[in-house]
Amino acid sequence: MRLELINLSKKFRSMRGEIEAVKDVDLAVEEKEFFVLLGPSGCGKSTLLNLVAGLEKPTAGEIKFDSDPVASFDKRIFRSPKERNVAMVFQNYALYPHLKVYDNIAFPLKIEKWDKGEIENAVKKAADILGISGLLDDKPSELSGGQRQRVAIARAIVREPNIFLLDEPLSNLDAQLRMSMRTELKNLQRRLEITTLYVTHDQTEALTLGDRVAILNEGRIEQVGSPLDLYDKPKNIFVARFLGSSPINIFNAKVIEENGTYIEIWGNRIQLPEDRAEKVRSLRTDKVVFGIRPEDVSLERDTDRPSVKGRIEDIELLGRETLLHISVKDSIIRALSDSSKWETGQNVGIMFVMEKAHFFEAE
Ligand SMILES: Nc1ncnc2c1ncn2[C@@H]1O[C@H](COP(=O)(O)OP(=O)(O)OP(=O)(O)O)[C@@H](O)[C@H]1O
Ligand SMILES: [Mg+2]
Repeated sequence: MRLELINLSKKFRSMRGEIEAVKDVDLAVEEKEFFVLLGPSGCGKSTLLNLVAGLEKPTAGEIKFDSDPVASFDKRIFRSPKERNVAMVFQNYALYPHLKVYDNIAFPLKIEKWDKGEIENAVKKAADILGISGLLDDKPSELSGGQRQRVAIARAIVREPNIFLLDEPLSNLDAQLRMSMRTELKNLQRRLEITTLYVTHDQTEALTLGDRVAILNEGRIEQVGSPLDLYDKPKNIFVARFLGSSPINIFNAKVIEENGTYIEIWGNRIQLPEDRAEKVRSLRTDKVVFGIRPEDVSLERDTDRPSVKGRIEDIELLGRETLLHISVKDSIIRALSDSSKWETGQNVGIMFVMEKAHFFEAE
């Protein structure tokens, strides 16, 4: 099933006045795709998912399942969640506490009045896929967070939905469980081949799970792309800052054209390779924002060679790697290093992999 959102908007009226939680969103999720919506708290992720599920009505725009509009403001179409046949996993799992695991998973089928034998087969199959066959007689209160999570997912997949909608399903789990559930979810989705829309504020989750990812900010889509695309070619500062486990370095710089293209920063001139120079020229201004990821900053003990010089202020150990905070004039530059040879207070020369430099218009 292909999912298409066309000029989709949702306004809420509340005590605080009118809030546009989703603004003019255009998006297509392809058949069998694992698509992730990533953005900070309050950016409209759950609202968007609820619109697709049929739990909210759009205040403008249209939602199509294949060529079939399931919600359209202009055409006054609104299909109920049941008619849409989507399966949703909520952040809080939303299991029925008084029902056994078996009956929790069977619930959507009982509502659809399947017969007993069919229900039993479907529940057993779903439980088997998720490795919870031994828990069918337990109550949710007797289960761990990870087990409850599996039950919620089993309930969602028990009836082959058109689309799978997941709202931060792993956020209540501890780090280790989150990682193993992530792998399981990805494999499960590949096996079931069901179009999936997955919401998270966790960039690692988004980048590891998504075939494609949309970055959402204040109800709008900032950029859509493959994880690598978003990481290597962020369209704006928001996207650049939002991705990366150590945040990208961002500085204002001046562009100078003089037998080549340079940026001037901290009183130093740094030459740009041709494709970066082209990018800078396309911005048509001499005041740009220069972004460089910590892994694209390297250090030298020899402070004479590189033109930018700084002092190590702080050293953060991140497992095998080290994140160094280096002061240059009034700025702090973050650099990732795989070596532990550095000391605080040490003077260093700083080099940037300028082929990997990002340039943006000033905000
Ligand atoms: N029923 C509602 N009535 C009024 N405002 C709402 C309603 N639901 C959501 N909002 C507002 O819409 C905006 C988007 O909310 P939403 O829950 O979609 O964000 P989110 O991205 O899912 O955030 P989080 O990551 O914290 O779950 C917020 O400003 C929220 O306060
Ligand atoms: Mg939410």
